[in-house]
Amino acid sequence: MFNALSRQPDDALLALIGLYKQDPRPGKVDLGVGVYRDEEGRTPVFRAVKAAERLLLDGQDSKSYLGLEGDALYLERLWSLVGGEAGTKVTAAGVQTPGGSGALRLAADLVLRGGSKRVLVGQPTWPNHVGIFAAAGLEVVSHPFFDTASQTVLFDRMVAAFEAAQPGDVALLHGSCHNPTGAPLSLDHWKTLAAVLETRGVLPLVDLAYQGFGRGLDEDAEGLRHLIGAIPEALVAVSSSKSFGLYRERTGAIFAVSATQAPADLAKSNLMALARTSYSMPPDHGAAVVRTILSDAALTADWTAELDGMRARIAGIRRKLAAGLSGAFPTLTAVAEQEGMFSLLPLTEAEVLRLRADHAIYMPTSGRINIAGLKTAEVDDVVAKFAALR
Ligand code: LMR
Repeated sequence: MFNALSRQPDDALLALIGLYKQDPRPGKVDLGVGVYRDEEGRTPVFRAVKAAERLLLDGQDSKSYLGLEGDALYLERLWSLVGGEAGTKVTAAGVQTPGGSGALRLAADLVLRGGSKRVLVGQPTWPNHVGIFAAAGLEVVSHPFFDTASQTVLFDRMVAAFEAAQPGDVALLHGSCHNPTGAPLSLDHWKTLAAVLETRGVLPLVDLAYQGFGRGLDEDAEGLRHLIGAIPEALVAVSSSKSFGLYRERTGAIFAVSATQAPADLAKSNLMALARTSYSMPPDHGAAVVRTILSDAALTADWTAELDGMRARIAGIRRKLAAGLSGAFPTLTAVAEQEGMFSLLPLTEAEVLRLRADHAIYMPTSGRINIAGLKTAEVDDVVAKFAALR
C-alpha cells in the first residue's frame, strides 16, 4: 500500500529550519520561520511562562482528560484578551485547539458543515492558509491584497472581491501583523470591510496569530473588535504560539462569535464534534500556562512587559532596516511602518537563492523576511548584501 503513495514536497518554509541548521558558515542569518528572536538570536521562554510552569509543576494534581472543549478558564481569559470590552457584548463560544493551525482547520470543517463551499483569501498570504482550507475541502478563491513592488495594500481590490462574493462565502482576514507582508489595515479599513461583509452575507474568519507584536495588545485587536460588534456572526482563530512564546506546545483556540447565544452554542457543539473525530482533545500544557499567567495580575504584568520589549526591538530593527534599504529599494521605507514579524521584499527567487548561496542569508523564496531574526549589529551588513543585488 505505501508504495502506491507519491512523495510529497517538503514544506518550503519549515525546510528552511533544516537548511539553516546544516549550514556551517559563521555569521549565517536566519530570516525564515516566524519565531521571535532576541539580540542574541535566542527564542526565549517568557519569564512569566517559566513562573507559571513552576506553579503548575507544584500544583497540578492530575493529568486526566479535560474534555473536548479544553481548558474553560483558558478560553475565558484568552477571549478577554482578544475581545476586550467588545467581546463582552457578544457570545463567544470557544474550543481550545492544537495551535492556530488546529483552529483554522476546525473553522474550515465547521463552515463546510454549515454549507459554505468557498473561502476568499487575499494574496499573498501564509501558504498554509491555502493548504489547510483546500485539505478540508473548501474552494480557495484568491484576490489581490498587496503589491510587493510598491509595498501598498490593494484595498479597493479586496473590497471589490468581497462585494462580488456570494452569501455563505467565508472571508479570511488577518487580525493584525499580516503574514507575510506586515501591511497594516486602519480601523477605517476594518469598518469598510465589516459593512461589505455584512451586506453580502459573508462570514469573516479572522486569524489572530501575532497579538501584541504590532502596535500593542489592544491596538492589534481593534479591527476585529469592531468587526464582531458590527456583524452577526464571525469566527476568530487565535494562536498563543507567538504572543506567549509557546510555539511547540501547540496552543490555540477557535471562537464562534455571535450576536446571540443560540447560534454560538450550536457552532460550539459542532466544533467539539469535529475535534472528537480529528485529534479528540487538545494538549493541555500551553493552555494551562496561559490560563495561569492571565489569572495572576503580577504574571500578566510581567508577560506584557516582556512582550512590549519584543515589540520595541522589532520596531527598532524595522526603522534601521528601512533606512538602510531605501537607497537601493525606495519603496522599502514602508518597512518602518509595517507591523509584526514580517515584511515582504521585492526580490526575485534567484536573488533569494543567491543571498542564501553567497552570504548564508536564509529566507523563503517569496522574499518574506522575519524581522525578528535580525540582530541590530548585523543590520548594516545584511543591508549591504541586499543592496548589492541591484
Ligand atoms: C510562519 O509563518 O513562519 C509561522 O507561522 C510558522 C509556520 O508554521 O509556518
